[in-house]
Amino acid sequence: MIPVISTVADLRRWRAAVGGRMVLVPTMGALHEGHFTLVRRARELAGDAGRVLVTIFVNPLQFGPNEDFEAYPRTLEADVAGCAEAGADAVFAPPVSEVYAKDRSVTVQESALSGRLCGASRPGHFDGVATVVMKLFNLTQPTDAVFGQKDYQQLAIIRRVVRDLNVSVEIHGAETVREADGLAMSSRNRYLTVEERAQAPALRRALLAARDAWRAGEVEGARLREWALERLAEEAPLGRVDYLEVVDAAALTELPQVMAPGAAVMAAAVFFGRARLIDNLMLE
Ligand code: PAF
Repeated sequence: MIPVISTVADLRRWRAAVGGRMVLVPTMGALHEGHFTLVRRARELAGDAGRVLVTIFVNPLQFGPNEDFEAYPRTLEADVAGCAEAGADAVFAPPVSEVYAKDRSVTVQESALSGRLCGASRPGHFDGVATVVMKLFNLTQPTDAVFGQKDYQQLAIIRRVVRDLNVSVEIHGAETVREADGLAMSSRNRYLTVEERAQAPALRRALLAARDAWRAGEVEGARLREWALERLAEEAPLGRVDYLEVVDAAALTELPQVMAPGAAVMAAAVFFGRARLIDNLMLE
């Protein structure tokens, strides 16, 4: 079995001992095939000579007061076994007290991309993400880090923070892993009831239908959005849309017209019961 490190002191010792290339996969645990795909990607990047470290830390800073921090699934034993199987060399799973001082007073805030989409309905969420990711980078000193593209906005924000703070970590985005019916894998899928689970893949189908419409010549962002929303309402009456938008793929601002492949991404968050599911699709 691979080592599970829980203190900063032990982590620093491990990092100093392994040296060289180290690829980090930051997670909050409750790992599924989507995460293990990130670990396998990290293994490829690290090669035989490098190391792969997975962090498992449910970060309180990125949860709002009425969100699922306490209830977030914690499955450390199974997570570690899966990480080992996928090719990780070690797991860092610290308690909150190892990561945050009680009187902590510094936050990393990205201010151009963070306020819209998920940031609009989860105020402060991306400050929590940016802060913990920078802390994890400082603690673990990776050469590379792998993040999933399902969290499109998160990935864009992390790239921006890395760019603007001159952090020397290479960021790699990995494709979303899906269930056979198209539902994006997520730790929160386990909250779905049988009925909600049956309807949840409609989100992916709605985005694909709008992309088909775009490929057939519809360029108006508002019409593409309506197209997806109508399809979703028909196929998933249990879904409650938080947002569904056609945005500039880089700036994440609303795009009135989508003229070029790769210029826009459709991004959505939809509640099914207590599960808030996100997904996105590039128009190309
Ligand atoms: O994507 C996640 O699981 C989290 O937001 C991350 C990047 C591990 C930060 O807590």
